[in-house]
This record gives sequence, C-alpha cells and structure tokens, in this order.
Amino acid sequence: MTPAIHPSILNADQAHLAAELDRVSTADGLHVDIMDNHFVPNQFGGPGLVESVLAHTSLPVDAHLMVTDADRWAPVYAETGCAIVTCHIEATAAPFRLAGQLHRLGAGVGLALRPATPLAAVEPLLAELDLLLLMTVEPGFGGQSFLEPMLDKITAARRLVGRRGQQLRIQIDGGVTEQTIARAAEAGADVFVAGSAVYRSDDAAAAIAALRASAAAHSH
Ligand code: DX5
Ligand code: ZN
Repeated sequence: MTPAIHPSILNADQAHLAAELDRVSTADGLHVDIMDNHFVPNQFGGPGLVESVLAHTSLPVDAHLMVTDADRWAPVYAETGCAIVTCHIEATAAPFRLAGQLHRLGAGVGLALRPATPLAAVEPLLAELDLLLLMTVEPGFGGQSFLEPMLDKITAARRLVGRRGQQLRIQIDGGVTEQTIARAAEAGADVFVAGSAVYRSDDAAAAIAALRASAAAHSH
C-alpha cells in the first residue's frame, strides 16, 4: 500500500493553528492526539479542538485517544466527524462493542498498543479494525526517540495482517524521522505519524515529501 504521512499537531504552534494546518496541506491525513493526564502524564486536546481542526482542514483526521475511559469518549470523536478514531486496547473495557458503535457512527476504527503491550492483545479484534497503531515511543510526548525493539513487532503485525488478507493499515507513532521511517516501512508499517519531523522543519511540505519518499523506497 502507498505509504501515508499523518502529521501530528501536538507540537504545532497552538496559537496559530490554522496556519499550522495550512503548512501540512500536502499530507495524507492529520493526526490529533487527545490526552487526559491520566492514561498518560500530559494533557492535550478534546472535542472542541477536533471541531476547530475539522473546520480548517480538508484532510481526513485520525484522532488518537490517550484517555482512560475510551468507551465513554471515542463515540464523541466519531460524531464530531473524525475519519478514524483510535483507542488504546489498554483503555477499553468492551472493544468489540466499541468498534461496532464507531462503525455505526460512520468512523473508521483504530486500536493502539503501548510499546510493551503484546500483539496478542488485539489479535481477536483484527477483523473489526481499519487501523492498527503500534506506538514506537511511550505515549505522552512528542520529540522522543524511536524504540528500535518495535521493529520486530511491526514485522510480526504485518505477517499477521498479511495472513488475513485484510485491508488493515498499520500505523506507527513516535520518533519517526527520515531514517527510522525507512526501517519501519521495511518492516511493514504503511501509515506514519510525524510530529517533530514535520513541525520542527522550516519547510513542512518538503519534510512530508522526504518522509514519503523514504518510506516508499523501503516499502514492499
Ligand atoms: C505521542 C503522540 C505522538 C506525537 C509524536 O504520544 O502520540 O502523536 O505527536 O511526535 P514525534 O513525531 O515528535 O515523536
Ligand atoms: Zn499520537
């Protein structure tokens, strides 16, 4: 599948959000982190932010919910109009019910795994998913380094998904750079969240193009 680049607005200049969205208009989607200061030690976003973002971008938005009560909050983001709502498997009590509910609301369904959560945790749920998010840093902050041991997990996930012959994208999030994206693409990821690699660059469009080219050169 063609690699997709989803800039994360976590490290964008929040006081100039509309301009920051314009800078990444050549991306394939937009990644909006939601943090409740409980599931992760940081706070960010909410339904109001997502509404503002949706009003200012034509890109599909994927919401990454790093919140404890995912069953309560995920439907709110589906109703808002996110293309994909991604919850953490560690934070949902009833993932089968939740996936059905999100699909009925018209949203794609994603499930995310913290770095130390084994793939087996989501295996029974794969048929319900549109996106599998493998965290490649401990969630909570932008600008961290890619966790190299996650490459084997990406490889294993790609094998699992390949065997099912399913249209399921494998997204990675955290520490994506021109270097790490090549190895992650090689391992089988095909949707790449990039925060600092895009927003810390003077030319965000060039950074997106370089990431996309590096992923494409290494994907199968
Ligand atoms: C971290 C967030 C990421 C973050 C990635 O918990 O989920 O989306 O913005 O930032 P970088 O690309 O800088 O690691
Ligand atoms: Zn994220």
